[in-house]
Amino acid sequence: TASEPTFSRQRNENPKSSAEREAILANPGFGDYFTDHTAVVDFKVDANGEGGWSNARIEPYGPIAMDPAAAVLHYGQEIFEGMKAYRHADGSVWTFRAEANAARLNASARRLALPELPPEVFLESLRELVAADQEWIPTGDGEALYLRPFMIATEAFLGVRPAREVSYRVIASPAGNYFGGELKPVSIWLTTTYARAGEGGTGEAKCGGNYAASLAAQMEAEAQGCKQVLFLDPFNDNAIEELGGMNIFFVFKDGRLVTPALNGHILHGITRSSVMQLAADRGLQVQERKITIDEWRDGVAAGEITEAFACGTAAVITPIGELKMADGVIASPGEGIGEVTAAIREQLLGIQTGVVEDLHGWLTRL
Ligand code: COI
Repeated sequence: TASEPTFSRQRNENPKSSAEREAILANPGFGDYFTDHTAVVDFKVDANGEGGWSNARIEPYGPIAMDPAAAVLHYGQEIFEGMKAYRHADGSVWTFRAEANAARLNASARRLALPELPPEVFLESLRELVAADQEWIPTGDGEALYLRPFMIATEAFLGVRPAREVSYRVIASPAGNYFGGELKPVSIWLTTTYARAGEGGTGEAKCGGNYAASLAAQMEAEAQGCKQVLFLDPFNDNAIEELGGMNIFFVFKDGRLVTPALNGHILHGITRSSVMQLAADRGLQVQERKITIDEWRDGVAAGEITEAFACGTAAVITPIGELKMADGVIASPGEGIGEVTAAIREQLLGIQTGVVEDLHGWLTRL
């Protein structure tokens, strides 16, 4: 069993050359390149109906052999996490709020009827993978090694029921700005064609299906020249929910920081919760509550809302330049990155990269 996980280690005998790796690290982009290894742990329900994790291992990165009837390929029984490994100036490698990711993975597992993974196995999988691929951590501004833990239903069975064979894996990808190039404000498209989630649905779970369901809306956004899409809750006065792959915040001139309340169908962003804590530490008045498009529009027009930003592990903190919609545009006042947005971003990245003191104990050494 995996309660005392020991990962066997199979080295990749054919890793990328150091020249190739250095070229990737010089300009990592987001999500295009992968390291030389992967972590894997198998789950199986035995004849007595007892489930267990076994065969924890590090192996060379490569294609997954899977039965074409594997449940994940048909019914999307899949969940994932997003986190990062940071190299500090003394060479040590750290990750950020890993217990929160472990807990969220298990909350997603419960919603998608997948098995929970012991948090110590989760942490060990990150540790082992980063140890094998530690030369892959970029260290430029906003750069890190993005870690993607995920769990898939591998049982070959076409009946619709929770799979009895599951695979948990971690891959790693050197990452810079999610939106490419230098950090600059992004434009967002407001979709009124599509909703992301609803009461009792999977909106709160980090499952692939939520992101698949965002893509038609994301295509709308791109057709409008925008980088991300914003979803509303059409059953709740068009309250603002979240973006296709990140949470959203509003900075008010009077020192309030507002973000949509967790209502059962908004992702429990770990960057979101960290931003709230750092903002409170700076003396901002943090409000998790309902905020509508009308409040955003009127707040900008009245000079009360001075900044808006997106946040997530991948996006870090990205200023929102404008929100485009069918009948107009809400433009953030000012150019570039707002003062509060910039300060919180710098503090968050500072903690993660070891140049600002980690007063909340958010870092774990890998
Ligand atoms: C993350 O921020 O880590 C995510 O999982 C979001 C995804 C759109 C990259």
